[in-house]
Amino acid sequence: MARSRWIAAVLSPALITTVITAAVFTIPQTASAAPVTYQSESATISQGVVESNHTGFTGSGFVNFDNVTGSYVEYTVNAAAAGRHSLVFRYANGTTANRPLDITVNGTPTVSGLGFPGTGAWTNWQSVTTQVNLVAGTNRIRTTATTANGGPNADSLTVDVAGTEPPPGPGDTPVAKNGQLKVCGTKLCNERGQVVQLRGMSTHGIQWYSQCVKTASLDALANDWKADILRVAMYIQEGGYETNPRRFTDMMHGYIEEATKRGMYVLVDWHQLTPGDPNYNTSRAKTFFTEIAQRHKDKKNIIYDIANEPNNVSWANVKRYAEEMIPVIRAQDPDSVVFVGTHGWSTFGISDGQSETSVFNNPINATNFMYTFHFYAASHRDNYLSALSRIADRVPVFVTEFGTQTSSGDGGNDFAMSQRYIDLMAQKQIGWTNWNFSDDSRSGAVFKSGTCAGSNFTGTGPLKPAGVWVRERILNR
Ligand code: GCU
Repeated sequence: MARSRWIAAVLSPALITTVITAAVFTIPQTASAAPVTYQSESATISQGVVESNHTGFTGSGFVNFDNVTGSYVEYTVNAAAAGRHSLVFRYANGTTANRPLDITVNGTPTVSGLGFPGTGAWTNWQSVTTQVNLVAGTNRIRTTATTANGGPNADSLTVDVAGTEPPPGPGDTPVAKNGQLKVCGTKLCNERGQVVQLRGMSTHGIQWYSQCVKTASLDALANDWKADILRVAMYIQEGGYETNPRRFTDMMHGYIEEATKRGMYVLVDWHQLTPGDPNYNTSRAKTFFTEIAQRHKDKKNIIYDIANEPNNVSWANVKRYAEEMIPVIRAQDPDSVVFVGTHGWSTFGISDGQSETSVFNNPINATNFMYTFHFYAASHRDNYLSALSRIADRVPVFVTEFGTQTSSGDGGNDFAMSQRYIDLMAQKQIGWTNWNFSDDSRSGAVFKSGTCAGSNFTGTGPLKPAGVWVRERILNR
């Protein structure tokens, strides 16, 4: 079902011109651990000059890297304690080409090709965040241009202790209330064994729409929409993970931290799609999930989805993949809940003309996991709705993607049919994340085109009709 959606996505001129490859966050204003800002004009500069001809910089100017590979700015920073720190680079890039920088810490290559995409104008300053380990005391953080365009104009570097600020929100966040989840029978339960129905949003592909996943939009999702869960759609092919595993893994680390700060659950979505056989990516998946689970195993809010939409593949092969991957995650994070997509683009085979019995008759041999189901209400009618109802009575299931339109993610909204699904999911306590939290031009993207360039994500003003509808369904509990 989703294949046509992705062909459409890849061909969209709007998408092609809005490819963004790095997480864009502003500096948290409520940071309790006193972040320290280092001005680029005070750093060590090799092949670059200090200038002040573009407004909006902080301090007395910014560094204009020479347009050569190897030009660099090196900051000398102080860390009160050894450990993980976030680095927030404030920059402008008035071109449309990404200007990646390699980051070394005390001479050791640490982040390769951190993306600094165009900001629209040399006077338009944005931030890119990454995380690195620092030693206690003095550290040298060098940022080196990797292309003949040189680096972006560099305003400053802000260094903060990672993971200690701000506190995970007031006591009524979804994670504060429910803690570590576990599968209980066919349902998802909180740490006290009570059934919970999580409701939230899926990002669009983070290789295209990371500009929609930033401080202001995540604040809106947590506080204005009161979502329980953020699904982070990390494609593997289609310009995703396989093109730069380090960068995409670091982006996912960043999104996990952002969800955690806001007390939301985060669904780490291994968004394999083409090819549809998840076994094609097993070795990549092992590398990725081992690092993610190792780093975040002590958090209570992580759910892992190891296969977004298996397609053109038998159920037996999906099951084989799941039975290979689940132990890989559990080796790092033993109490984690894992989600597994089903064949036929996560329809339990219905979109392949089969029935859900292929899964019932050959279940995955594992514990504490859920199968996933996807639907698009204008395409997937009563036979899908009744299948979801039967499935939820038999096995644990979570709807990790749905839309109120057709499976292209576009076209008219069928809110009547969508409401029937919402009612079923409420009745059977089936959790869901809606597609998608972006300003893509299609009707299923909740924000009006252009919203993500700004910082106003609250209320219904920035929303398309599908956004108004789904926000209401998350808020009304
Ligand atoms: C322009 C701009 C500079 C920028 C440079 C570049 O000259 O004014 O601030 O650094 O382009 O492409 O790097």
